[in-house]
This record gives sequence, C-alpha cells and structure tokens, in this order.
Amino acid sequence: MAAIPTATAPGLVQFYNWIFHPLDYMETQYRRWGDIFKARGTLMDWIFLSHPDALKYVLTHDGQELSAPGEVNQILSSLLGHTSLILLSGAQHRQRRQLVMPPFHGERLKVYGELIRTITHEVLADLTPGQPFKARELTQTISMQIILQAVFGLRQGERCQRLGQLLAQRLDMSSGRLGAALVFLPRLSQDYGPWSPGHRLQALVKEIDDLIFSEIQACRSNPDPNRSDILSLLLAARDGEGQGLTDQELRDELMTLLVAGHETTATAMAWSLYWVHHQPEVGARLRQELEAATGADPIALTKLPYLNAVCNETLRIYPVAMLTFPRRVEKPITVQGYDLSPGEVVVGAIYLLHHRPDLYPNPDQFRPERFLERQYGPFEFMPFGSGARRCVGSALAMYEMTIVLATLLQECELDLASDRPVRPQRRGVTLSMKGGVDMVYRGKRPIPELVGA
Ligand code: HEM
Repeated sequence: MAAIPTATAPGLVQFYNWIFHPLDYMETQYRRWGDIFKARGTLMDWIFLSHPDALKYVLTHDGQELSAPGEVNQILSSLLGHTSLILLSGAQHRQRRQLVMPPFHGERLKVYGELIRTITHEVLADLTPGQPFKARELTQTISMQIILQAVFGLRQGERCQRLGQLLAQRLDMSSGRLGAALVFLPRLSQDYGPWSPGHRLQALVKEIDDLIFSEIQACRSNPDPNRSDILSLLLAARDGEGQGLTDQELRDELMTLLVAGHETTATAMAWSLYWVHHQPEVGARLRQELEAATGADPIALTKLPYLNAVCNETLRIYPVAMLTFPRRVEKPITVQGYDLSPGEVVVGAIYLLHHRPDLYPNPDQFRPERFLERQYGPFEFMPFGSGARRCVGSALAMYEMTIVLATLLQECELDLASDRPVRPQRRGVTLSMKGGVDMVYRGKRPIPELVGA
C-alpha cells in the first residue's frame, strides 16, 4: 500500500511554520496532499486528519485500536503539572474525568447562568462612554472571574484578584512568539539565572502555586458541605480504595481547569464580538432576536437559535483549538486507504475540517445562517474534539459565549475602533487573534420597552 503523503520541507522549517504560521502551514499541506498527511519536525511525526469519516474512526476507537495517551501532551506539563487530567492515560484518565465532569453538566451548570450575567454586568460597569478597550481583555476578565468562582468558589477579594492577575501574567508568558517557543521547547522554561526567561517564569509559577496550595489547605481544614465549587468536590472525592487526591494532584487539576477553561473561552467570546460588529447584517439580525427575548432568563438565552448559530460560526471559522489532542495507534489500522502502524500519532485537524468547502461552502466567509440551514454531525463540526478526551468544559464554554454576547448586545452599544480585518494568530497552543480587537464603548442601550415611552 502507498506511503502516507509526507510534508517534504526540512523538519526545522516545518517546526518554524507550525509555530509562527500554523494556519498557512496546514492549508499549504492540505492543498498539496489532501485529507491525510504526515508533518515532520513539529515535535514528533504527526499525521493530520481532516475527513469526517477518518475523524469518526479515530476518535471513536479510543481505548481499542487507538489510545488517547497523556504522555504525548508532555509539552503542557510545565504549565499544568505532571498529574493533570490532560497528562493522564488509560484507567487513571477515565477515573479523573469522572471526578471532574459533574460540575460542568446538568443542574450544576444552570447555577452558572446567573453568575455569568452578573459578572458581565460588573465588568461593564467599569467602562465609561467613549472609552476604547480591547475585546480580548474584557472577555478575559469575565472568563477569569467565572472560572475562579467555578473552581475555587472565589468571587471577590484580594486572593481572588491576585490569583487572577498572576494567572493572566503566566498565560501571557506562553502567548507571544517567544512564549510559543517556551511551550514547544520546554527546556527554555528552566531557570538558567536571573537573566533567563525561565527565571521570571519559575518565580511566577511559585507564587501561583503558593496561592493554590493555601486555598487547598484552607478548604481541607474547613470542610463545608454547602460549598459546590470544584475544589470542594475534588477534595471530598474518593477512589475505589477510599483514597483521595493528594495536594499535588489537586493543584495540577485546578491549574488545568483554570488554564483550559479561561483562555479558550475568552478568545472565543472576543471573536464573537468582533464578528457581530464587523458584519453589521449579522449584528442586526442577532439584535432583533435578542430584543424579542428581552427579560428572558440567562438559560433561555442559551437556547436562542441565531445566537447559537453566531457562536458556532465563531468556533468554526477560527477554532480556538486548531487540533484535537494526539491519539496513538495501538493496533494496525487502515485510514483513508493508508496503513497506519502501532506507535504512529494522529491528530484531528479541526481547523482544516471546519474549512472543507464540501461541508462549508465559502469557508472563509462568516455566515451563521449555515448552522440554521443544515444540521452538522459531530464529526463535521467539532470545536470541542470528541471521544475519550472531548472537552469537559464545552457546555460551560457555550453558556459563557451565549450569555456574555447576549448581555453585551442587549445592554450596551459597542463599536469596532477600526474597519481593518482582525487576523488570527497563535497564542501558546491555541489560536487567538492579532491585537486583541480594538473596540469603543459608546454607552448603555435603552431598554426596548422604554423606547418612545
Ligand atoms: C471555547 C472554549 C473551548 C474550546 C474551543 C475547547 C476545546 C477543547 C478541545 C478541542 C479539547 C481536546 C478534545 C479532544 O482531543 O478530543 C479540549 C479538552 C479539554 N478542555 Fe476544553 N475547550 C474550551 C473550553 C473549556 C473549558 C471552559 C474548560 C473547563 C472549565 C475546558 C477544559 C478542558 C479539559 C480539562 C480538557 C482535557 C480533557 C481530557 O484530557 O480528557 N475547556 N478542549
């Protein structure tokens, strides 16, 4: 059988392109090789897949012909810790997921609806009419508050503020070009003396850890059955042998949720603000739907069809996660007519999937209507991945996106500061935007019932 098409540029060139121009890199390989190709020199040889059938096969055979091992995510260990859910494998990974999932689903999730709206109001109250601001910073403040409340039950106060600031600084250090290199070349993160980039990084990590460990200690010594935050739930959890998580395991899990749950959603919300203002017809249609829903509770907002279509199209066009986590072939398999051997590593190329013209005509055009005209299957649209590692926070992320966007559009007038298109840009392991979207706050909107009264 033919060998899998393999990108031919030298490994170092491919690595450079993948870090600095990930979308161009993937598009170029896709145009040259099609639905399946092997990239060399990124970190290891990765096989990129973007056909829905191939993705379905690979992501639904986790634990059989394929696995979703944590070791291949080692690059994240300096940020998240070695015992993070993302770095665990097999039975340990499944058990940890069972512990972490419940607060993100069902009734528990509904509690966050009101909180998301309240936090959005508080952040809005700090803006004055005429004030320029960066959408990415506004949404980052909102998503940080939400995740700190969900994870630690921390709402306000000095500790909450300090932790938020430090985390934002830590994530900024992994975001620029040097930051991306720090992520992909972990040795650079080590402390080689006061002038090395690793020195400041390690000092920051220590300060964050001290705060997280003291939260864990406070919660351990004052168990409160009425608390419903994730730290309290994880502290109370026991495995089959009655063992709870150690402080280090707790720290790594909390850090994982803080990082995974905050950056991603902040970026997605900033993109949604950009698109509805960059395309006035989209903004107008959405405002019409929202005006008809004035007074609705936050949960009702999450069900509005056009609002959901806007959020889905936002996650389609520039998916914050460009790839799924890697899966490893465990038994010989055939994918797209090619034989894959045990040990080979495949990734779902979410960005390429979301730009397939056979699924999304004019894929570079932002057109939420496509999600009203057609029902996309789980392997045609998958911003949150699928299978054993599907995003645990997907429902919370959709709540945040819909409620924050609806609240902002219902209650205030915002404008883009410029007509210039905003371009996507890598931020650490995620896809974010260049410049953070410059906007201007024009002031509060009149409440519809009062118009003309
Ligand atoms: C727009 C926002 C988000 C996007 C686009 C996103 C996307 C993803 C993707 C693509 C994966 C990998 C799935 C796979 O390999 O099949 C993932 C995993 C994960 N996400 Fe999210 N995510 C978002 C928000 C969140 C939130 C709010 C949280 C938690 C509060 C979260 C926590 C996680 C965790 C812990 C994993 C690892 C799961 C595992 O290893 O089993 N994410 N996410």
